[in-house]
Amino acid sequence: MTAWQIPLSDLDLGSEERNAVVGVIESGWLTLGAEVSAFEREFAAFSGARQSVLLSSGTAALHLACMALGVGPDIEVIVPSLSFVASANSVALAGGRPVFADAIGPDDFTMDPVDVERRITSATRGVMCMHYGGFACDMDELVEICRRHDLFLIEDVAHAPGVEWKGHSLGTLGDAGCFSFFGNKNMTTGEGGVALARDPEVLERIRLMRSHGMTSMSWDRYTGHAWAYDVVSLGYNYRPSELTAALGRAQLVKLPSHNARRYELLERYRSHLAEVPRIEMPFAGRSGAAHLAVAVVERPDLREPLRRALAEAGIQTSVHYPPAHLFRHYRETYDYAPGDLPITEDLAGRAITLPLYATLAAEQVDQVCGSIAAFMSRTPAVP
Ligand SMILES: Cc1ncc(COP(=O)(O)O)c(C=O)c1O
Repeated sequence: MTAWQIPLSDLDLGSEERNAVVGVIESGWLTLGAEVSAFEREFAAFSGARQSVLLSSGTAALHLACMALGVGPDIEVIVPSLSFVASANSVALAGGRPVFADAIGPDDFTMDPVDVERRITSATRGVMCMHYGGFACDMDELVEICRRHDLFLIEDVAHAPGVEWKGHSLGTLGDAGCFSFFGNKNMTTGEGGVALARDPEVLERIRLMRSHGMTSMSWDRYTGHAWAYDVVSLGYNYRPSELTAALGRAQLVKLPSHNARRYELLERYRSHLAEVPRIEMPFAGRSGAAHLAVAVVERPDLREPLRRALAEAGIQTSVHYPPAHLFRHYRETYDYAPGDLPITEDLAGRAITLPLYATLAAEQVDQVCGSIAAFMSRTPAVP
């Protein structure tokens, strides 16, 4: 599948997933049916939530959470720039204005609660935080800021399924929690996502908007639970397939052991790189889902040469993330410019994402770290 000797991410799909998919094919029902309902029950139970809504992507979950919480024209929502652009896009797609907040720093890439509070205006209605790399934002601070200013809080939990903050699952501390099951996530269905919401009415709005605001689905009519439907709001086609749900059920069972394995490998990276000059890793001493193995080099001029050296050794790397506020759309639409978020821009210039997935071998981590150490030893300390 790949020319890389060590790719950035890889999947662990086996007989459980194969049997689950074959079971759906043999059932003869491919969309919104018994598998979706079963997944929604199981994911809710796993998260300590009452209900969940499975969707066609994490972006769909974020978009519908924004819509269900009332984002629209003249409404500002504070979002991280150091995130996948879907976080900000979902606010803009709902008609609102994303206002970017800076990251904390090289030890913690999540959004800085102090900067969040600084950016609150009379138009602000909510905050969307993202648990970067599988490590929780400071939820005590963010929840308290939102309470004080009467703002909603959406958690983008794409990187952190199965992580707790003081005994509560991430995704249940805010007003809504949105997860992604994209092909590189800790649990994957290829494409897919799920939404949780504290208020059952918000979750019901998400459920309705998933399928055109319709009050009953084909499955309800097929199983005799309904024979007609009304349309009570506008909505989208963000429906998941039964194949998505079946894959998700199999992957959910594996999630705790996959998270644990990822964490073990991340700690192996950490202990090797502690011996290497001019590179360090954020989130030291923190527990989390270890979605990304991110390291920060001392100077921005080291980053691309290091990536090239690793690529020559067959090792794929990436950058999480190019700052969203500097994408052309955001610069042109909202007048953002370089220098607006100095910490985010600094981290985005020095961060490198190393391979990390549950089936990565410990020896492969050693190999990546050996290549980094070799690069640093032939690179002068001062340019
Ligand atoms: C932080 C973050 N938010 C949102 C998304 C969007 O999820 P999806 O690709 O399932 O739409 C992703 C991943 O793709 C992500 O990494």
